[in-house]
Amino acid sequence: MSIPVITIDGPSGAGKGTVSRLLAKKLGWHYLDSGSIYRSLAIGVLNKALDVTDVDSIVTEAMEMRLVFECGEALRVCLAGQDITQQLALEQVGNTASKIAVLPEVRQVLLQKQQDFRVLPGLVADGRDMGTVVFPDAQYKVYLTASALKRAERRYKQLKEKGIDANLSRLTKDIEERDRRDSERAAAPLSIPVDALFIDSSDITIHAVLDKILSIISIETV
Ligand code: DC
Repeated sequence: MSIPVITIDGPSGAGKGTVSRLLAKKLGWHYLDSGSIYRSLAIGVLNKALDVTDVDSIVTEAMEMRLVFECGEALRVCLAGQDITQQLALEQVGNTASKIAVLPEVRQVLLQKQQDFRVLPGLVADGRDMGTVVFPDAQYKVYLTASALKRAERRYKQLKEKGIDANLSRLTKDIEERDRRDSERAAAPLSIPVDALFIDSSDITIHAVLDKILSIISIETV
């Protein structure tokens, strides 16, 4: 039997990260935050001031990227020996990640790195193309979304809590622009896997989302 995978796809800010981490903890499975792989590459691209259309240099950067994930109480990510956990959350990093994610050559290099996370006892994989491209044979697939305004409001609250200045209408615009780029790109666009459970988290809590997902997972797995 193949190693079990639950894929959770959807746009930025729908709550995928929180739900996936809770689910992985509950099941005792591994967790793949695929967005953080694209974000780590974006940090490399920004550090070296590479042009986001310079495919060859970005592919080289992706191939040489030395990434280490430490899954303790909180996820910590190191790139070439440097802790980049804090930088990963920056808006500029997310926007650059979305721009380089349109490049099929880059996606191809990152594909195997993501598939390597599929180890026993199982994996919860969070991203945009987990159920469609990276793990098309996943046993369980979820598509988690929320309205752009709700997602921007959540992001605004998070930034304010961290003492970072933010503007709600700017955040909403950025989210809509990112959604458009992630959904309209030719390579592995954000789309709903045909066999996915669709959940709109706009008006329900994270725990209600988790309960919906757990209800489709067979008793033997839980
Ligand atoms: O989930 P996130 O916001 O951390 O992802 C950042 C960007 O990375 C997102 O805008 C598009 C890209 N991405 C992707 O193309 N495919 C994935 N599986 C995950 C992220």
